[in-house]
Amino acid sequence: MFEMWKGRDVISILDFSRTDLEELFDRADYVLKSDLREKPLDGKIMATAFFEPSTRTRLSFESAMLRLGGSNIGFAEAGTSSQVKGENFADTIRMLDNYSDIIVLRHPLEGAARFAAEISNSPVVNAGDGKREHPTQAMLDLYAIKRNFGKIDGLTYCVLGDLKYSRAAASFVLGLTRFNPDRIYLVSPPQLSVREEIKDHLKMLNIKFDEKAELREVLHEIDVLYVTRIQRERFPDLREYEALKNSYVVDAKMLENAKSNLAILHPLPRVNELSLDVDKTKMAKYFEQARMGVYVRMALLRLIFGV
Ligand code: CP
Repeated sequence: MFEMWKGRDVISILDFSRTDLEELFDRADYVLKSDLREKPLDGKIMATAFFEPSTRTRLSFESAMLRLGGSNIGFAEAGTSSQVKGENFADTIRMLDNYSDIIVLRHPLEGAARFAAEISNSPVVNAGDGKREHPTQAMLDLYAIKRNFGKIDGLTYCVLGDLKYSRAAASFVLGLTRFNPDRIYLVSPPQLSVREEIKDHLKMLNIKFDEKAELREVLHEIDVLYVTRIQRERFPDLREYEALKNSYVVDAKMLENAKSNLAILHPLPRVNELSLDVDKTKMAKYFEQARMGVYVRMALLRLIFGV
């Protein structure tokens, strides 16, 4: 049943069908319930190659691999790799392929993971390529929703914030298209509105969506609020970032107008867009969402290695 996962690259969330994702969630359920003394990846080596900073993605992948009995090698910044000496990216990937059984790659360039997958014999997992995609983030986001509501279908979603540059938002919206959301509201400052290719995909699949500028227009009717930070590091002109950086803030007071069972998600890290006073509300699901990252990545590694 799980054979279709074995040896696969993870580049875009759209590489995975609904059935694939449901199998991943079933496997994550199993991992959550299982005895963690099981070490099915003993002898396997994962390389984490992070050319951009990370807390959650890199460390949860490494934690997942170690919990499964495997080992980890890699670097957390390009400055400690031989890229500093002028090595080209393709050669770096060839070396990681020599030394490991799977490569988890984060890179500022869109398409870097797809290019690495063409070079590498070992599977490549995209841990974020520029603004384009962050597929394993979407996998854990969808799993967190399924655990919270018992379903992903039929809910009303709002994705708030930097929809132009956030790869987590891009993969989340594309991931929702594998299910049947009732409606997706895309709420952003006009300068940071969702990219055309994502809207084209929603239109092609007849998914109901609306673009809005203000959260308060839709807050009363949504089930899931997915908040994103403004991606300072992607702005070509930091003056534009400075002008936009406080353009939306979710706080506990405004949530008085929300459904009582609203689930607030955030891929994290947060900056100013999600007030600390939201943490105390029962709507705050983002720390639990991040915790699921280890279990979903354990499930993913098991499936890719076929165990
Ligand atoms: N959500 C996420 O990608 O976080 P990190 O940048 O800390 O990995």
